[in-house]
Amino acid sequence: MSVLEDTLTSSEAVAAYVAAQEQKDQLRFLTCGSVDDGKSTLIGRLLYDTKLIFEDQLAALERDSKKHGTVGEDIDLALLVDGLEAEREQGITIDVAYRFFATDKRKFIVADTPGHEQYTRNMATGASTADLAVLLVDARHGLQVQTRRHAFIASLLGIRHVVLAVNKIDLVDYSQERFDEIRKDFETFASGFDFESLVAIPMSARFGDNVTAKGGNMDWFTGPTLLEHLETVEVGEHELDAPFRFPVQWVNRPNLDFRGYSGTIASGRVAVGDEIVVAGPAKTSRVKQIIAPTGEVEEARAGEAVTLTLQDEIDISRGDLLSTPSARPDVADQMAAHLIWMSDEPLLPGRSYMLKIGAKTVNATVTDIKHKINVNTFEHMAGKTLDLNEIAFCNLSLSSDVAFDPYEANRTTGSFILIDRMTNQTVGAGMVWFALRRATNIHWQALDIDRKARADKMGQQPAVLWFTGLSGSGKSTIASLVEKRLHAEGRHTYTLDGDNVRHGLNRDLGFTDADRVENIRRVGEVATLMSDAGLITLVSFISPFRSERQMARDLMGEGEFIEVFVDTPIEECKKRDPKGLYAKAEAGEIKNFTGIDSPYEAPENPEIRIHNVGRPPEEVADEIVAYLRARGFLSVLGMDGDGI
Ligand code: ADX
Repeated sequence: MSVLEDTLTSSEAVAAYVAAQEQKDQLRFLTCGSVDDGKSTLIGRLLYDTKLIFEDQLAALERDSKKHGTVGEDIDLALLVDGLEAEREQGITIDVAYRFFATDKRKFIVADTPGHEQYTRNMATGASTADLAVLLVDARHGLQVQTRRHAFIASLLGIRHVVLAVNKIDLVDYSQERFDEIRKDFETFASGFDFESLVAIPMSARFGDNVTAKGGNMDWFTGPTLLEHLETVEVGEHELDAPFRFPVQWVNRPNLDFRGYSGTIASGRVAVGDEIVVAGPAKTSRVKQIIAPTGEVEEARAGEAVTLTLQDEIDISRGDLLSTPSARPDVADQMAAHLIWMSDEPLLPGRSYMLKIGAKTVNATVTDIKHKINVNTFEHMAGKTLDLNEIAFCNLSLSSDVAFDPYEANRTTGSFILIDRMTNQTVGAGMVWFALRRATNIHWQALDIDRKARADKMGQQPAVLWFTGLSGSGKSTIASLVEKRLHAEGRHTYTLDGDNVRHGLNRDLGFTDADRVENIRRVGEVATLMSDAGLITLVSFISPFRSERQMARDLMGEGEFIEVFVDTPIEECKKRDPKGLYAKAEAGEIKNFTGIDSPYEAPENPEIRIHNVGRPPEEVADEIVAYLRARGFLSVLGMDGDGI
């Protein structure tokens, strides 16, 4: 009995399907090809020929074929697959869809990914769990740039088995020469990837030749049909053979007598009595119970969701990785990884993203793009940022240690996603290459004189007044007046001003988005050190991006970061134009000028918002000093307003 779920819509659907097919072996595969290679027709053919289309769907298909079909009076099988109306109208498939079918021998999960260049990210999504990739080419056109790209991404994502489906063979008169030519081209090209199996099959998805049944007109082909190959190819059970890994999704503690750790086994097996170790703290214990959805079991394996209880009370929290002590994961806060960028907003090194690996989320920055990879030629290229669908080899630095494996060894514990902290969108997918250990012998040096001692000595409470706003908005003028007033009161201060810092520490930086991110990252770090030194620090930088202002805020202690938005409209800034820069920018003489051809993201909830049009800067400065006084920053040691 076969089960068909047209499209994966919920995890329940998968669970139900998997339960029904439990006894059968499973193959996950991915299909990819360029737009007109006939991918949807191929999947439709597989579903149709394995009799997985329900009667009512067939009726609908016949109706739709008349309306939208591209194959005349025949049923257009692609329509079965191209589910969305919008896609039909555009004639392309635009998202990853998962489909299920089964034969007597195996059950299959197909990820159908679009061929359009800009949808590399979708292919990456589909490929990350696939065992095999079916790469379609049109026999008339042979290997395309996309075919190379798909083979490369498949290899990068750890797919070890490839089928080259040479489709539309009917349109080249079932020519064996043409097939051999394409097969050889591909074998030569793919020899650099370490695919374990590579099988080329000539076929006509439209007429069904060599998809599920041998095709007429191709007696010269002695290999298997696509379905035969899919039913029999040995893909190995890497996840089962790999060492035990269990990311703790949540700590289940219904009462004081029970403490269980729930999650899905990422790899390997575990049995009652096995020794386990918590990666990182390296504490060990033994498994007391394994609780599966069906009740207590003696053993569990990769892919199963279980709750474990342990013999000892050790400190384990959500996000920890349990493993076998005999083959432990890496634990590090720096790593080298391949990154596929999935956002329209470019990756900016130095920007803080959230990195989710297993059940753990930490902050992370890309510290270095070692090289970008041209996905069509595989050349390495230099790059400062990464755009949508680009792939790079990068170094990353994390806010704390995490446990992981190289992706090559474990596709689950070796992959991660990057999430934008402002929008919460997934912006990148990564595959760990190796842990970087360069900083592991650097520890925090304990200093006897701490920040409190320094601040007390100065009789003040450190703060960072972070002035942000357009060029010419009046940040520096106001900051300078505030500093003068604080100084007159006997406060210890320092001003970090964009123009000044760019003469020294940041003289290597320009005004691209990437350079501005790095500019603010450095200034955030310096301001933090100054705060540590006990000073009241005034920072006056355009600091156009919310993300980096947030990063600076996060570096400081609670309440220490005071964002002052100098909210002067751009028309007013242009009118003032103290350095003549707006005039130049508008004349095209300066590129990437904030507010002209480079963005400014206004603060949403600044501590202080300044409207200074028509107001003397002295008055504004008084307002800011009053703010500090009201919040107690100037009242330490009872010296309110008296100075020292
Ligand atoms: S930030 O965007 O990276 O925070 P920062 O405050 O350091 O900028 O420097 C801004 C100052 O550099 C401006 O006040 C202006 O004098 C000067 N400048 C020169 N070129 C540009 C530009 N393209 N965009 C903005 N400011 C520029």
